[in-house]
Amino acid sequence: MKPRVIVTRRWPAKVERILVERFDAVLNEDDVPLTAAELATAFQTYDAILPTVSDRLPASVFPSDRCRTRLLANFGVGFSHIDVAAARERGIAVTNTPGVLTDCTADIAMSLLLSVARRAGEGERQLRAGAWKGWCPTHLIGTKVSGKKLGIIGMGRIGKAMARRAHFGFGMDVVFYNRSKVDDDETLSMSARQLPSIEAVLAESDFVSLHCPGGAENKHLIDEARLSIMKPSAFLINTARGDVVDETALIRALDRGTIAGAGLDVYAEEPAVPRGLLEQENVVLLPHLGSATAETREAMGMKALDNLIAFFEGKSAPDRVV
Ligand code: DGY
Repeated sequence: MKPRVIVTRRWPAKVERILVERFDAVLNEDDVPLTAAELATAFQTYDAILPTVSDRLPASVFPSDRCRTRLLANFGVGFSHIDVAAARERGIAVTNTPGVLTDCTADIAMSLLLSVARRAGEGERQLRAGAWKGWCPTHLIGTKVSGKKLGIIGMGRIGKAMARRAHFGFGMDVVFYNRSKVDDDETLSMSARQLPSIEAVLAESDFVSLHCPGGAENKHLIDEARLSIMKPSAFLINTARGDVVDETALIRALDRGTIAGAGLDVYAEEPAVPRGLLEQENVVLLPHLGSATAETREAMGMKALDNLIAFFEGKSAPDRVV
C-alpha cells in the first residue's frame, strides 16, 4: 500500500509527476488554499500533508484524536506557519527544504536593496504612467549603494549569501547580528564584523537586511524603538517573514522620515498588504518572490520529495526539524 499524501498547492509539474507515481497522492489541481476545516480533516485522512507557507497550521487544526498524519513535509525552508509544539506532542514529524533557495532569496534581497536605493519602483511607475519628462540632472535622485555599510540580522545561509553579494559585488562593508557566534572562513573572507546587539547593527548600517526566522520568538523584532535607532538615510530590507517587522511602526517610521525607505518581499498577513505601505513611494513591494525561480521551486519540490521518500522507507528524513 502506497502512503496516502495530500499536496496543499500546485507544485512544479515534474515533482507532481513523481509524487503521483510513488505515492497515493492527491494534488490540488485548482490551487485554491485549503480551509482550516479541510486541513483539520486532512490530518485524519492522509499519512502525510505537504504544506507551504500559504497554509496556516496552528494548534487548533491539529486533531485531538484519530490522527493519521505522521509527517508534514513542508515545501519551503521557513516553517513558522506550523505549530511545531502541536506536531511534536502528537508525534508528527516535520521537514523543510533548506539550502536550495539560498541564492535566489539573496538575489531578491539584493534586488530590493538596489531598487529602493535607486528608486527603480518609482521610476517604473512614472514611466508607465506616461509622466516621464525626459533626462535631467535632478530627476529621481537616489542613494549610492557601492561602498556603503550593510547590516545583516541573522547570519545563516541566506544572510551570508546576501553578505557575499553585497561585499564582493558592491564593495559593501558588512556588519551583522547573530544569536550565536559566527566566525567561519566565509565571514572572515568578507571581513564581516559580528556586533553584540541588533541595536549596534541598526545604528551604523546604511542598509539593514533581515534574514532571521519568523515565529513567536522574532515577532516584531524590528519595532518602533529599533526603527528609531536606524539612520534617517537608511533602508530596511525584509525577505524573512512579515511579522518580524511591526508593520504599523514601519509605516509610521516611513511617514515621519525616521528611515529613508524599505524593500519588502514578505508581509504579516499575506496576501494582504497594509494600505499604509501601498501608499508609500519610497517602498518597493514584491509578492513573496524570494524562491520564485523555476530551478529553485523544482529543487524545493525534489527536497520535499526526498524527505517524504526517506521517511516512509523508515530512514531518517534528511531535513527533519521536528
Ligand atoms: C520559504 O521557503 O520559507 C520561503 O519563504 C518560500 O519562498
